[in-house]
Amino acid sequence: MKNGIERHYSAYKGELTKLYGFKKGYLFLDLTLGDGGHTQEALEAGCRVVSFDIDDEAIKRAVNFVPEKFSPQIIEPENTSKPITRDFNWIIIHSNFTKVEEIVKKLELPLFDGIMVDLGPSQYQVLSPDRGFSFAEDTPLDMRLTKDLGVTAADLLAVLNEGELAELFTLGDEPFAKPLARIIVKQRTINPIKTTKQLADLVFKVKKGRSGRIHPATQVFMALRMVVNLERENINLLLPQLPHLLKKDGIMGVISFHSGEDKLIKDFINGEIGKNNLSAINEKPIVPSTSELLISPRTRSAKLRLAKKTN
Ligand SMILES: C[S@@+](CC[C@H](N)C(=O)[O-])C[C@H]1O[C@@H](n2cnc3c(N)ncnc32)[C@H](O)[C@@H]1O
Repeated sequence: MKNGIERHYSAYKGELTKLYGFKKGYLFLDLTLGDGGHTQEALEAGCRVVSFDIDDEAIKRAVNFVPEKFSPQIIEPENTSKPITRDFNWIIIHSNFTKVEEIVKKLELPLFDGIMVDLGPSQYQVLSPDRGFSFAEDTPLDMRLTKDLGVTAADLLAVLNEGELAELFTLGDEPFAKPLARIIVKQRTINPIKTTKQLADLVFKVKKGRSGRIHPATQVFMALRMVVNLERENINLLLPQLPHLLKKDGIMGVISFHSGEDKLIKDFINGEIGKNNLSAINEKPIVPSTSELLISPRTRSAKLRLAKKTN
């Protein structure tokens, strides 16, 4: 445990070695470092790893969690324009993964054997009281993965009109999107919605309490998080870069936790199959095993799609 919050449970933990064929010297690109679980699995299997994360706190935590013998070289955005020595073991790049192709070129890094993208926030980010992702505590509705982003969740609730809010909530598959948008627009003229608890209570009221296992505000919070962090835009910018970063027969894998995201990934891979750039390794996405679901129920909505570079 670091900073009082337990280490993020990495989806498909321990399975990447077999799925990717990790071995000594394998060059692995982990575009979503988080608490470093996937990166650590690769390092322990003898891989050389380049990890990205947009969040400097995530980088600090990962460095603390991963055994000290794998001490990384950390590259800040202002230092990404010089070539890097080729004999690195682990490099961490503090950047949005949408810049990966440009940065890899500038650092003169070689092509990769495998790439991993594990979408969404880490458990640490969700549970951090000062990040505003969680309705478990009453904190400012922020939800930004990096302060470089200008717009918070509270800003969106303050400025979007009723139709735009309904559309936003629909992104999280929220069935009460329209009545929620209506009440938010009404409520904010009396009292601006600035905290996680204010929003969660409002959703609870509109949806008349809890039905089922998840909190009634789960979908609304997810939709806000996706829009605040430009998650769809980022995936759309990232995916076309990945085949250019792989060696022939290299493998790319994307883990998503939302059906809309999984569809983006599936459609992308299918489009690349048409252009002969990729072949899908599995027709259907790989879902977590029953034993994994027992350890980490959060992974119940995880889907992993793997594809191989064909030329
Ligand atoms: C689900 S966590 C990854 C967990 C990690 N695989 C592990 O085993 O601990 C996702 C991480 O990706 C980072 N992230 C999300 N969007 C990003 C982006 N556009 N660029 C770089 N990192 C991003 C988040 O800050 C978070 O730390």
